[in-house]
Amino acid sequence: MKIISDPFELKKYLQKIHKSVGFVPTMGALHEGHIELIKNAKKENEIVVVSIFVNPTQFLADEDLDKYPRKDEADKKICQLCGVDVLFFPKADDIYSYDEVKVCAPDVRGYILEGATRPGHFSGVLTVVMKLLNIVSADKAYFGKKDAQQLHLISLMVKQFFMNVSIVPVDIVRDSDGLALSSRNVYLSEKERQEALKIPKSLYTASQLIGKNILKTQEIKKAMFEVLAPLSIEYIEILNRNFEMIEEIELGNTIILVEALVGKTRLLDNIWL
Ligand code: PAJ
Repeated sequence: MKIISDPFELKKYLQKIHKSVGFVPTMGALHEGHIELIKNAKKENEIVVVSIFVNPTQFLADEDLDKYPRKDEADKKICQLCGVDVLFFPKADDIYSYDEVKVCAPDVRGYILEGATRPGHFSGVLTVVMKLLNIVSADKAYFGKKDAQQLHLISLMVKQFFMNVSIVPVDIVRDSDGLALSSRNVYLSEKERQEALKIPKSLYTASQLIGKNILKTQEIKKAMFEVLAPLSIEYIEILNRNFEMIEEIELGNTIILVEALVGKTRLLDNIWL
């Protein structure tokens, strides 16, 4: 496995090899969710590039940038074991310089849900993903459905900026107790982790109601609030796959999204129906 930190060196290397490239952007502290993205990329491409970069511009001033888990050596081993060909491991000043051009999140879909609780977050995500996609020039780039709004906004950016990359969504990987895997789960105490299980349970409750043909979104949200209490809920939202409000579930075109604070840890989860 090659480890490269200089964007220009990586560009030059990939331009020379003339093979199909699958790209998995991450912020490290790799877990089975990231590994699932890598496995998908391995299956569908000749070369797999993984980036590890804790992107400062997507953290708000009072967020966990400084304590975000960093596991560089373990991550390198995981990438090697997964058969990653190139690990892109830049430092902040390899990516950002003085007086930067930025990509802005769209006014509506970038400022609802997580964009409302973390204003500016998605502009930071889109800016870094634009840079990373331009450095890697992949045929396919892999993103988890776990971060459904991020996936949606990146797909919009690629389409609206006429970029030459296919965005491939990958299903959510969960722990055996149902909690969606996340690098931030390490912040949870044992007690908080038990509390956090209310999040996947609320989504399960929603799917059961829908199975009984209860399709009004208000009714489903109410039942989910009851399962989640007394957690501090940032939002429960039921949207179509274009991230627009709906009043009734449209099977095959719906996402139910939850964000809740467990202690100080912000957890996201969703199901696609
Ligand atoms: P990070 O949180 O490290 O996630 C990297 C990728 O892994 C994202 O596409 C995310 O959706 C996916 N992922 C995380 N947990 C998952 C799970 N349980 N199942 C499936 N996929 C999962 O998301 C980011 O980094 C950053 O915002 C990034 C896109 C790299 C830009 O900085």
